[in-house]
Amino acid sequence: MNVIEAMKNRISTRAYLDRPVDKETITRVLEAARWAPSGVNTQPWQVAVVQGDRLKQLSEAFLQRASEGVKPHPDYDYYPGEWTDPYKKRRFQCGMDLYKALDIGRDDKEKRREAALNNYRFFGAPVSLFFFMDKRMGKGSWLDMGMFIQSVMLAAREYGLGSCPQASTADYPDVVREKLGISAENLLLCGMALGYADESHPVNRYRTVRESVQAFTSWHE
Ligand SMILES: Cc1cc2nc3c(=O)[nH]c(=O)nc-3n(C[C@H](O)[C@H](O)[C@H](O)COP(=O)(O)O)c2cc1C
Repeated sequence: MNVIEAMKNRISTRAYLDRPVDKETITRVLEAARWAPSGVNTQPWQVAVVQGDRLKQLSEAFLQRASEGVKPHPDYDYYPGEWTDPYKKRRFQCGMDLYKALDIGRDDKEKRREAALNNYRFFGAPVSLFFFMDKRMGKGSWLDMGMFIQSVMLAAREYGLGSCPQASTADYPDVVREKLGISAENLLLCGMALGYADESHPVNRYRTVRESVQAFTSWHE
């Protein structure tokens, strides 16, 4: 698959086939992604690959916390405290498009909650990756992490895999660190569901929208 194709056909996959991904394929994906650039080649990424019973245990622990009403307490604020336009509008549209694909009505709070909780089931994916970074590193390393994470998603396309980056599975970083034996010196940036997409599921059959190049680019010549 060429790079442009992979960039354009990567979507956030939110329904997966019950089909395992072999270790060799996951290794190949990471083998390609490790060539991502990073400031002075610091390569700040640490990846935990979780599958099988360990993944089930994590899922149960997340769902348990949520049912007990434990508030998510990620290692950092992904989103602003107060939303302003144009981001507010885009966020709204993103939610609306997703609920439409899932056939969830505007006021159906119960189904919305269930859809949100599905994050903690990794949308049925057989694998979840967790991305960590040494907390001593600076802001620049967050850029490196983003480039690495996108590289993982693009490489996954080469092997016919779907993915969904998940900030939600970093809602309870203490749980992830404890279950996986990861040091508190490592920040959990996000998780990522990984597996073979259920192409027949409507949630995988819609596309999110994007602004035109013109809308976000200024030329200075
Ligand atoms: C770092 C990051 C975290 C995300 N976290 C979640 C998540 O927790 N749950 C989810 O359903 N989608 C999550 N997304 C997916 C975004 O909603 C999605 O990328 C966006 O709507 C654009 O759609 P697309 O990925 O299909 O092109 C996340 C995306 C990124 C980049």
